This record gives sequence, C-alpha cells and structure tokens, in this order.
Amino acid sequence: MHDDSQSLIAKALRKEPVTRPPVWMMRQAGRYLPEYMELRRQYGFLERCYNPELAAEITLQPLRRFPFDAGIIFSDILLPLDCMGADLHFREGKGPQIDNPVRSAEDVDALTDFEPERDLPSPMEAIRLCRQRTDKPILGFAGAPFTLACYLIEGGGSKTWHHTKHFMWSQPEAFKKLMDKLAVAVGKHLQAQINAGAVAVQLFDTWAGALSREDYLEFALPAVQKVFSMVSGAPTLYFSRDTQCFLDFYPQVGADAFALDWRVDWTRAQQVLGDVPLQGNLDPIALPAPPEIIRQKVHHIIQQAGPTGHIFNLGHGCTPQTPISGVQAAIDAVLEWDWSKVG
Ligand code: CP3
Repeated sequence: MHDDSQSLIAKALRKEPVTRPPVWMMRQAGRYLPEYMELRRQYGFLERCYNPELAAEITLQPLRRFPFDAGIIFSDILLPLDCMGADLHFREGKGPQIDNPVRSAEDVDALTDFEPERDLPSPMEAIRLCRQRTDKPILGFAGAPFTLACYLIEGGGSKTWHHTKHFMWSQPEAFKKLMDKLAVAVGKHLQAQINAGAVAVQLFDTWAGALSREDYLEFALPAVQKVFSMVSGAPTLYFSRDTQCFLDFYPQVGADAFALDWRVDWTRAQQVLGDVPLQGNLDPIALPAPPEIIRQKVHHIIQQAGPTGHIFNLGHGCTPQTPISGVQAAIDAVLEWDWSKVG
C-alpha cells in the first residue's frame, strides 16, 4: 500500500515547506457534479453511503475530474446516529430528518453503543477500496457531538435550534450524558477511519456557532476534547462555522489543525492560535465569480496564510449551484502558486 507521508497534505500538516499549499474542497463529492447526479438518480442517499462500492466510487469522482490533492470519503456525519437508534431519513427536497427525536433522559439512555466496524463498516471499507484505486490520500471525518445533538434533538435542521437549547438548559445532566455518549461514538469512528488508512480526519462542528461563549465552554467543548483525546495515529482537524468569537478556545480543543470559515481573518487567527496548521478559507459562494476574481481571492488567501502549514480549502462546502468552472479556476490558481518564486 502506498505511503501518504510525503503527500502535500501530510507535509502541510507537519508544517514542512511546500512550493504551494495542498488543495481539497469540503463537499467536493456532491450535487454540483453531473456524474454524482447520475448515480443519485439510481440510488437513495443512504444506499450510496452504506454501499462501500458506491461510496468509494463517489469519493473518486472529483479526483478523476480535478487535480485535488486529497479525497474525502463519501459518507455523512449523521450515519452513526442511524446506527444508535435514530430513525434517519433523507427525503427528496427535505434535508436530513430524524423521526424519533431525543427529548428526554430516557431517550438518551435508549441510544445504543456504537462499534464502527460492526455497525458502520462502509466508510472504512470505502477508505480501503479508495486506497487500492488511487494514490491520492483519503480523509476521514465525523460530526462533532454538539452538531450531532442538534440534529438528534431537533429531528432535522433548524434556524434557531430551539429544542436543542431548551433541552440543554432544562435538562443539563441528560444533555451532558448525551454529549458524552456521542463523544465516545465519534472518537471510535474517527479512530476506525485512521486504522483503515485515512491520512487525517476532520471533525465537523457546523452548528457550534449557534452557542454563546459560556454555553460552548460548558456544553460543547468538553465533548470535543474527549473526542480528540480518543484519537491517535494521524493528524486531526477541527472545522467549526461562525465561531470567530471562540477562536481563543481553539488551543484547548485538542485538534492538530483548524479549518477556518471565510469570515475568519488570517492575521487574527495566527495571532491567537500561533504556530498551528490552518485550512481554508475561500467563500464557496465566490466560485460562480469570474475566474480572474477567483484567482485574486485564492492568491490573497495563500499570501496571507504564508508558506508553511496551510491547506487550501473553502470556508464551507461546495453547494449544488457551484459551477465546475469555478472549482477548476480555484484549483488552477492554487496550482500555479510557487513560494520559491515569491520574494
Ligand atoms: O464531499 C464531501 O465533503 C464528503 C461527504 C460529506 C457529506 N456530508 C455528503 C452529503 C460530508 C463531509 C458531509 C458532512 C455533513 N453532513 C455535515 C457537516 C458539514 C457541513 O456541510 O456543514 C452536515 C451538517 C451534514 C448533514 C447533512 N447531510 C445535511 C444538512 C444534508 C443536506 C444538505 C443539502 O444541501 O441538502 C446532508 C446530505 C448530504 N450529505 C449530501 C451530500 C453530498 C446531499 C445529498 C444529496 O441530496 O444527494
């Protein structure tokens, strides 16, 4: 099996010098790709995730079309919840729904333990298949406990996370028990993906920014710390959104690197976080812009991030409206960068 240790992404995560940053994009496998839409017509979302052949194929699709430096395994953060007893559905046009939301201490107790290789072998199997089929490093991922709790308690997406916050404040002990259960599940899931050959793993805390500083510290941070304390053998990345006001908490999180959304200023991030690898952070909504604008924005980000410890990415995922030409323009702009020629 090939060795990923000299890949650009592994080097950037070790802060070794590179001539240009490695590039991949969150949601690089997804609905903006015609070849994904073709498979989407034939198979349901959960079937695409639970079938390792399909998951591997979808992971490889963007790597065939674009010179990305890494693939991210096709799966979803909500799958472990499905295995733990949540009745998860992806209905057309609806986004994820959980038909039996967690609303009481008894509901928390009823969630079953999660053993990744027993209950959800497909992402690991898909990682192993991808590693046989491409030399590109493959990233694993999972959802952070708070973000998973949001979907589990709410029963789906929300603008306010009303039920989640109400549960958190009115039943804090049950909420913390839930966070702990989720942390254990997620820690095992990330470790299993590393064991299967993932070059690094990313924890997605998409909804952390819904919390105040004090609620993040009390309810979300301890569970994230527990997740990262359970994982070893490959670098870990922590992505959260809309959390500029928590930047100063990041050093306590326990991740090896941080993925920034497009609102975060590099200078401030580097001042607060010091010498840690950072990933990001082009606004995904810039991808429909003219190629020259994309190029300027990409070069501005690379220049600010500096020559070591930067992985180029979007500040959030590709959307279904993302144009193929915009993805290509952003990658071209990264590939033409050469630190050895920058004075
Ligand atoms: O390409 C990749 O990045 C890898 C695969 C991936 C998916 N979901 C596939 C997917 C990853 C890393 C995720 C993470 C994920 N899933 C997050 C965290 C990151 C983020 O985007 O904030 C969250 C919150 C979820 C939960 C989830 N899954 C939602 C909210 C949705 C609906 C999204 C939408 O735009 O309708 C999904 C479905 C989903 N997961 C799709 C994909 C490609 C769309 C499925 C489809 O309709 O074909």
